[in-house]
Amino acid sequence: MCGIIGYVGCQDAKTVIISGLRRMEYRGYDSAGVALVTDHGIEVRKKAGKLKNLEADLAAHPTPDSHEGIGHTRWATHGGPTDENAHPHLGPTGRVALVHNGIIENFAELKAELERAGATFLSQTDSEVVAHLVENGVASGSTLREAMMAAVARLEGTFTLVAVDAQAPGSVVAARRNSPLVVGVGEGEMFLASDVASFIEHTREAIELGQDQIVEITATSVDVTSFDGSPALTKPYHIDWDLSAAEKGGYDWFMRKEIFEQPKAVADTLLGRIGPDGSLILDEMRIDAATLRSIDKIIVVACGTAYHAGMIAKYAIEHWTRIPCEVDIASEFRYRDPIITANTLVVTISQSGETADTLMAIRHAREQHAKVVSICNTNGATIPRESDAVIYTHAGPEIGVASTKGFTTQLVACYLLGLYLAQVKGTKFGDEIHSLVRELEALPAKMEEVLKDLGATLDLAQQLHDVSSVLFLGRHVGYPIALEGALKLKEISYLHAEGFAAGELKHGPIALIEDWLPVFVVVPPQGRDQIHDKVLSNIQEVRARGARTIVLGERGDEAAASYADHFLALPTVPTLFQPVLAILPLQVFSCEVATLKGYDVDQPRNLAKSVTVE
Ligand code: G6P
Repeated sequence: MCGIIGYVGCQDAKTVIISGLRRMEYRGYDSAGVALVTDHGIEVRKKAGKLKNLEADLAAHPTPDSHEGIGHTRWATHGGPTDENAHPHLGPTGRVALVHNGIIENFAELKAELERAGATFLSQTDSEVVAHLVENGVASGSTLREAMMAAVARLEGTFTLVAVDAQAPGSVVAARRNSPLVVGVGEGEMFLASDVASFIEHTREAIELGQDQIVEITATSVDVTSFDGSPALTKPYHIDWDLSAAEKGGYDWFMRKEIFEQPKAVADTLLGRIGPDGSLILDEMRIDAATLRSIDKIIVVACGTAYHAGMIAKYAIEHWTRIPCEVDIASEFRYRDPIITANTLVVTISQSGETADTLMAIRHAREQHAKVVSICNTNGATIPRESDAVIYTHAGPEIGVASTKGFTTQLVACYLLGLYLAQVKGTKFGDEIHSLVRELEALPAKMEEVLKDLGATLDLAQQLHDVSSVLFLGRHVGYPIALEGALKLKEISYLHAEGFAAGELKHGPIALIEDWLPVFVVVPPQGRDQIHDKVLSNIQEVRARGARTIVLGERGDEAAASYADHFLALPTVPTLFQPVLAILPLQVFSCEVATLKGYDVDQPRNLAKSVTVE
C-alpha cells in the first residue's frame, strides 16, 4: 500500500528512484512522483496513473542533475488519484518535500489549525499536512531531523514518512510507525524503501527498522533513533535473494512466473525442517514444548488469500492435534471480542508481514497474553518482529498482486506447524507423522506434474474468458480452494465468481445456475468415501440444472470424470494436501483469462499487494 523510496549517493538519483518505484509498483499504482534535490532547489514531478506516465513526463521534460531524492507510488486513500494528490508533497514554500505511506488519522484537525495560521493546501491528502508541519519546523531553525521528530509527535495513525530539505542537501530523513521501511546500505550510497526489492540491484545489505524510529541517511552514514531522540538498536541483515528473483525472467507476467516457481518454493519451505528420521525440526519455534503442550485453543488469523490458507490449516491442525481451532478474517478478529487466554495460540499468516489488520490482531492477542506464531514470507517485516515465533515461507519475492506461491508455501508452513504441534503433544504416532512428512516431500514433484499438463486448463480459458459468471464448489479442504479459485478470478479477471461449500449450494445459491454456467468442482481423493461421494452428488445437482461442470479430481477417478464436461486430473495425495495441487490449475486459469481479456495481470485495478491500512 504505497511504495516509498529515498536515495542519497553517487548515482543519478532520478534513475535509481524510478527503477526502485518500478519494483514497488505492486504496492499501488494510482499515481507516482519524485522529488529531486538539485542545485536550484527541489524539483518535483508527479503524475496520476501508472509509473509509465511519470516516466513519459520525465523523458519529455528532463530534470537537472541530482544525487539525492525521494519517490512514491500511490494507492489512494485520502483524495482521488489525481496529479495534485500524487506524492511528493511540498511544504508552504517548496523547501521540504515529503512522501508518506499510511493514514494520518488526525489530519483534519491539523489541517484546520494550519489553515487558521494562513496555510493553503494544493491537495486533498492527509500527507500534505505533514509536509507543512515539517517545513514549518525547519523554517523556524530546526534541523530536518528535529522537525521530523516534532511533526511525528503530533501525528496519530500509521505512517512512514520520508523527507528532504532543499537547504540541507546530502541527507534524507524518515520516520516509521506501523508502515514498513528498510535501509539499504551501499558503498557511498544509502537507500530507504518500503521493500528491499527496490534497491536489490544496488545492494543486498539492509538494516531493519523498528517501530517509532527516525532514521537519517547520508551517502556514508545511517543514524537511527527512537521518536524521542534516544539511540535505537538496529538489526543489519543480508538479503538472500538477488535481482533475478525480482524480474520476470522471460514470462509475460510476474504472476505466471510465480505460479511456475511454486514447486521450488514449496521445496525450499520444507528445506531444513525435516530430520533424517522424518520428524519435524522447527528451530524457529521459540516457544518451549511445555508451553506448546498447554495450548488448549488455536486461532488462525489472516486476510485475503492467506485467510484461505488459514481455513485449510484449521482442518489439518484439528485433525492432527485435536486442539480446537478457529479461523478469523483479521479485520473481524478484534471486534468480535474473541475469547483469548494465556493458553491460546494465535497463528497469523501473512505473505508481506505488513498487513495492518493482521498486525492489529497480533497486538490484540498479545495484550491478552496469547502466544503468537506468524507464518510470513518477508524477512524482518513488522508481523514477524512482533510475534513470539515465526515460520518463514521461502517463496522468494512475490510481486504479482494476486498471491500464488505465497499461498502454497503458506499451506506447507501450516502443515509443518500442525504436524510439529502433533509431535510435541504426542497426538500422532511418530510413524504417522513420518508418513505424512514423506507425502509433503513428494509434493514439489507432483506440483511439477500438474504444471506440465496444463493443456486442458488453457483450452478452458480460451472457451470461457467471455462468460459473465463462474462458480466454484468444494467440501472440506476443497471449500477454501473454491473460495481461492473464485478470488483469483475476481482479482485479476474482474469476472463475477463465487466459491461455495458444495453442500450449501442447495440452500440458495443453486438458484444462480442456468444453462451452461461454468461450475468448477474440487473432488477429494477417492479414499475419503463419504466426502468424495457427497461431492459427486453435488456435481449431479448442478448438472441436472444445466451447468457446465469442470471437475478437478484424482487421476483415475472414473466416477468424477463421468460427471464432468471437462476433467482436470490431479496426482494422488492425502486429502489434506490436495489444496496444494488443486489450486494450481485455478491460478493458471485466472491468469490466462485475464491475459485473454487484455488486463494487467500483475497490477489489477483498485488493488494493492501489501495492505498497510486498516
Ligand atoms: C492483499 C493482497 C492479497 C493478499 C492479502 C493479504 O489483499 O492483494 O493477495 O492475500 O492482501 O496479504 P498478506 O501479505 O498479509 O498475506
